[in-house]
Amino acid sequence: MKTKTLFTSLLLVSILFTAQVSLAQLPKETDAHKAERMKWWTDARFGMFIHWGLYALPARHEWVKNAERMTNEQYQKYFEMFNPDMWDPHEWAKMAKAAGMKYVVLTAKHHEGFCLFDSKFTDYKAPNTPYGKDLIKEYVEAFRAEGLKVGFYYSLIDWHHPDYTIDSNHPQRQTSDTAYIRLNKGRDMSKYREYIKNQVRELLTNYGEISIIWFDFSFPGKHGKGHDDWDSENLLKMARSLQPGIIVDDRLDLNNVEGGWDFTTPEQVQVSKWPEVNGKRVPWETCQTFSGSWGYYRDENTWKSPSQLIELLIESVSKGGNLLLNVGPTARGVFDFRAQERLKVMGEWMKYNNRSIYGCTEAPAGITVPANTLLTYNPVTKRLYVHLLAYPLGSLTLPDMADKVKYIQFLHDASEIRFRKGGDDAKNDLTLSLPVQKPQVEIPVLEIFLK
Ligand code: GLC
Repeated sequence: MKTKTLFTSLLLVSILFTAQVSLAQLPKETDAHKAERMKWWTDARFGMFIHWGLYALPARHEWVKNAERMTNEQYQKYFEMFNPDMWDPHEWAKMAKAAGMKYVVLTAKHHEGFCLFDSKFTDYKAPNTPYGKDLIKEYVEAFRAEGLKVGFYYSLIDWHHPDYTIDSNHPQRQTSDTAYIRLNKGRDMSKYREYIKNQVRELLTNYGEISIIWFDFSFPGKHGKGHDDWDSENLLKMARSLQPGIIVDDRLDLNNVEGGWDFTTPEQVQVSKWPEVNGKRVPWETCQTFSGSWGYYRDENTWKSPSQLIELLIESVSKGGNLLLNVGPTARGVFDFRAQERLKVMGEWMKYNNRSIYGCTEAPAGITVPANTLLTYNPVTKRLYVHLLAYPLGSLTLPDMADKVKYIQFLHDASEIRFRKGGDDAKNDLTLSLPVQKPQVEIPVLEIFLK
């Protein structure tokens, strides 16, 4: 009897110990350490998202399989036709760099389940299409060669895998519980959990240093999926142990777990202020499309204008965030001409104005934002940037700034902007004299050297 009790308590202790050990693997970081780990990313501010997969062929949204409720058999023709003969990842990387982007995130696998990489755990992959090669390998090398940090998007959702249970987001979604039970007979999520672990291990082992992993996405609830379905905690522990510096988004459904995510991901929206969690500002990145779709969508015409896009970037930085701007390349492997045009204009603006973006963040509290402007601030150089969204007529007043300013210039040409103390109503205002003609810059920027 005694031996049995001793044995049971030993067993209990060892179980508790193992649980402790495995929990301890998610890094317990101080805020300072986390900020340091993420510094390159928060300084970078601007990255490229790339959504590329079989859905480029139908060219009507990356959710086409879902929207049109296609079966694997009906979708198979895109796999058989996949052959991006014009693909040159170096060209992509050069365009991203020229636009001023510092990092890139490509869909290694999207919801359709098709893998751009040479995974040992599936046949549903680029090397088995007419194209015949591992696209991820070439992608990683090309973007690295241009000096960009490389990341992967990995879809937790999988509309092709035989063990992935049919859920409310699946092309074969149902309307009754009994139909779900019938269809999901024989599907085994524990096998699928192993599959995603195996694939993420491949991605984070076979391609050198990977800076970002973008898991997408959880939808807990009835006929949904959350952290238990993915075994998120262990998946993340594995990712962090394979790539200790890796930066992770917040879609694993681990929002309440310490170390369960690094940044939050407002999608296709402009936040009204710097996002907070439990009263604390958190790192954030908005992901946005040029038009309405992530994958190449031939007939989608709601493209944002170049100045709207530049404004989106400035606006994100003005609230302490990043912009991940998406391109959906065509099935030939090139960027849509509309995307190319916009990247060019952004690059032209960034070439002369990137000092108001890189390393910048929200302006210090207490500085009033003049009408029709956005402010960013570099805390290291102590320079304040005023982005003139609507070009003023001859002068601009900065309220209550007279005792704070050393020097002002246009950022694009370093030409002096003269200013005098006093404004319309308050003595401590600063009034700037601007040339009547708007400079040849999409959104002109004033660079203010603070005392
Ligand atoms: C959504 C969509 C997906 C896209 C992603 C980008 O989660 O499901 O198609 O990849 O947003 O953030």
